[in-house]
Amino acid sequence: MKPVNVGLCGLGTVGSGTFNVFNRNIDDICRRAGRPIRITTVAAKSLNPSCDTSSVTVTDDVFKVTRDPEVDVVVELIGGYGIAKDLVLDAIANGKHVVTANKALIAVHGNEIFKAAEEKGVTVAYEAAVAGGIPIIKALREGLVANQVNWLAGIINGTGNFILTEMRDKGRDFADVLKEAQELGYAEADPTFDVEGIDAAHKLTILASIAFGIPLQFEKAYTEGISKITPADVSYAEELGYRIKHLGVTRKTEKGIELRVHPTLIPEKRLIANVNGVLNAVLVEGDAVGPTMYYGPGAGDEATGSSVIADIVDVAREVETEHAVPHLGFADRTTDLPVLDIEDVVTGYYLRIDCKDEVGVMAKVAQVMSEGEINIEAIIQKEPAEGEKDVPLILLTQPVLEKNMNDAIVKLEALDAVTNPVTRIRMEALDG
Ligand code: HSE
Repeated sequence: MKPVNVGLCGLGTVGSGTFNVFNRNIDDICRRAGRPIRITTVAAKSLNPSCDTSSVTVTDDVFKVTRDPEVDVVVELIGGYGIAKDLVLDAIANGKHVVTANKALIAVHGNEIFKAAEEKGVTVAYEAAVAGGIPIIKALREGLVANQVNWLAGIINGTGNFILTEMRDKGRDFADVLKEAQELGYAEADPTFDVEGIDAAHKLTILASIAFGIPLQFEKAYTEGISKITPADVSYAEELGYRIKHLGVTRKTEKGIELRVHPTLIPEKRLIANVNGVLNAVLVEGDAVGPTMYYGPGAGDEATGSSVIADIVDVAREVETEHAVPHLGFADRTTDLPVLDIEDVVTGYYLRIDCKDEVGVMAKVAQVMSEGEINIEAIIQKEPAEGEKDVPLILLTQPVLEKNMNDAIVKLEALDAVTNPVTRIRMEALDG
């Protein structure tokens, strides 16, 4: 059988991991694929000393790969929207299948890319774009094909999870742990992508489209970061039986699709609450199967390379056939369901209200809650710390419409006794 020829663009962390795993396990990979596959060409700005490229053609021009008549599959592992987008579109225009790990590219330009691929009859595969080595795209598009997905919630940024885990385990400050995450190489080139939830929103956008058969709508994702979480919030949450995780949540409601990334209190007994460090997990609730969870490394050279190679094998099996899984799982992606504004979302809340320690404050806070028809579920107030005049009042509420909570927070912040902006963290029961 004719070999499937692969051209690899990018030899950085994921590129080198892919190259090395592929060459190490090539015999089993080809036996599983049922046909020979070989990396024939590599395009890279500079060679990676961990990769022995002596038996492949090496170039610094990615368009030599996309236009090489011998190449069947172009693998894009450069990242970003610039050259990566040009090379993906050029590969498609030249009739090549594409494999990419580029979450930002798929989340922002995926509709255009998939349209071009469908017109040309080629596949664009992107397993490695979400949760690194975890085969969550395959699970959603294929393993759960029988289900209506009700909701999914994921820890899909390892850097953020590492920071929150260190803050909880060691009482460390946000800024201090972020610096360490950067030194360890976990963070994106621009770490605000990690800590402000943009990287997670890219991944959530992709998961929501596959779960619900909607177009990719990154611009409608609500995104809130973890930089304002304090060690005190982590510790109060723990006292109340919760962990704070930076979650991506998407849920189908009668009014539309929720699409949101924000710090979230979740009950400590949930399996996903115990996913720590740089690890990722995605919890999916299907109507037939119930809750299922997918857990593992969300980044890393060989772990992400594992997903890239899975796509190469899938695509190699499709070469010369017309039997591909639809790009976003649904062959028909038309739907009336809008993505909801965050003000239309209903969740429970953790509130930290810094107050003066004086008579009647608790009653005023309770009055605001009562006017907003917000049901208080739990409350903590400690004695003021030595030398302090203010006391934090911690409330957990029953689920309430976000708009009503916003109104209540405005009223709380207008009280003379409230000394700082109110800290609000949404809560999810994740109980199926
Ligand atoms: N910066 C990302 C993370 C890498 O921390 O999860 C993988 O997308």
